[in-house]
Amino acid sequence: MTTDFSESTATTAVIDSLQETPDQRLKEVLSSLVTHLHAFIRESEPTQQEWERGIAFLTDVGHMCDEQRQEFILLSDVLGVSMLVDTINNRKPVEATQSTVLGPFHVVDSPPRALGADIALTGDAPRCVVQGRIRSVDGQALPGSVIDVWQADDAGYYDIQLPDEVPPLNLRGLFTADDHGDFWFRTIEPRHYPIPDDGPVGNLLRATNRHPNRPAHIHFIVGAVGHSPVTTHLFIASSPYLDDDTVFGVKASLVRAVRTVDDPALAEHYEVQNPFGLIEFDVVLDPVDEPGSDL
Ligand code: BEZ
Ligand code: FE
Repeated sequence: MTTDFSESTATTAVIDSLQETPDQRLKEVLSSLVTHLHAFIRESEPTQQEWERGIAFLTDVGHMCDEQRQEFILLSDVLGVSMLVDTINNRKPVEATQSTVLGPFHVVDSPPRALGADIALTGDAPRCVVQGRIRSVDGQALPGSVIDVWQADDAGYYDIQLPDEVPPLNLRGLFTADDHGDFWFRTIEPRHYPIPDDGPVGNLLRATNRHPNRPAHIHFIVGAVGHSPVTTHLFIASSPYLDDDTVFGVKASLVRAVRTVDDPALAEHYEVQNPFGLIEFDVVLDPVDEPGSDL
């Protein structure tokens, strides 16, 4: 005898249809998705017109995806899903540097640069110095760590957004920490900026009276032998939007002041004008578990 599809049998009917799925993880995830999706539909009771509007929105998101633009990730970002996935997958000891979203602007390989290099290839904005030490959670320095950095300029633009105005690879650099695990480089203070909001995700932000801005930050990916790499940012303490980053990426432990240093000898050492801004950002990495170490 057939069972009529009804509001009360809908979820069981679909979950039963998944029973023969050979991939157990796929079966688990799809069953959970169906359960929560049906609960959402039961709770919100969309009209047919609203459901069609939702489908049209997702279709527009799909049409806005290509090699350069990933509107689905942007949607995930503004709904807090990217940060939730990132946080779940980067549970670390409290001493370790916390992670945050990668973002869409790490699309080119950063150029290897010598310690102390100026990653601002253009403009006359005052240079500041970013310096730090890469350590393991037990405090031991990690010489030879690799530090990949990229950032927006003082108007809030990445190089790839201004291909006709700034040299390629502006404000990007790949550094190798010295024998003490130390790194330092010169740059300009980045400005806060809006995420790309000329597509359906921007429409969603406007429809919900949300702004599209992210606080000023410098992106980092830091790796060292025997340790899990961390993808993170350093946030500038004086920036607006620290409390309402549109992609929910801020963690208090990643916020740093730009300290004004008035020390002509140090300025000469770093090859910057005196006085200058100094940002200190140590990065603490979590050792990778040795295979079998938890046996
Ligand atoms: C970024 O910081 O580059 C970024 C992160 C998420 C969405 C858009 C931009
Ligand atoms: Fe960014």
